[in-house]
Amino acid sequence: MKFFIDTADIDQIRDLAGSGLVDGVTTNPSLVAKSGRNFLEVIEEICGIVDGPVSAEVAALDHATMLKEGRRLAQIAGNVCVKVPLTWDGLKTTRALADEGTPVNVTLCFSAAQAILAAKAGAAFVSPFVGRLDDIGHEGMDLIADIVEIFAAYPDTIDTEVLVASVRTPVHVIQAAKMGAHVATLPPAVLRQLALHPLTDKGLAAFVKDWEGTGQSIL
Ligand code: E4P
Repeated sequence: MKFFIDTADIDQIRDLAGSGLVDGVTTNPSLVAKSGRNFLEVIEEICGIVDGPVSAEVAALDHATMLKEGRRLAQIAGNVCVKVPLTWDGLKTTRALADEGTPVNVTLCFSAAQAILAAKAGAAFVSPFVGRLDDIGHEGMDLIADIVEIFAAYPDTIDTEVLVASVRTPVHVIQAAKMGAHVATLPPAVLRQLALHPLTDKGLAAFVKDWEGTGQSIL
């Protein structure tokens, strides 16, 4: 399973990319606004830090302008993945950009029917938002199970990857991995949380103490 990080915070990206565990980055207009940075500059900077796909979202709502914006974003770096919303104009833009060889991440997916359309439009990724479905009383992970099952039924014609988005907890990540989702995009705090366990901390403290008692050194 690939891990992307869901942030436009350069310090976080630099720090986590250094772990060698980050396969890509996703941003959205809200994350860019939070960063307080110039959008095009911050995307260029992220692309210089991470080799994998960096999702940069169009702002327009109509196909013609989305397409222009997508082409502009794709010029920033070879690893830009243009992010478009799951609307009819977005799907049309996805088809056009995909035909030009530009990878597209179709975002704001909340149903299996929408995911099927994204795949048909030639999206490289479709982003179902699990946390936001949980927020309104749905079971967000059920959507991931449905999309993974549907895509797996068409191995020769669908190569769109399921990018689990709006991830809130490590449990979302474990469930997504069990379902065979291709990618999860994680807020930095959730990625860090994946490594934590109180028994690891307790065990390590005991090992450190006992090792010190031996008076030995490896180097
Ligand atoms: C995905 O690409 C989105 O940027 C993100 O996962 C949305 O998460 P949120 O629902 O926590 O804002």
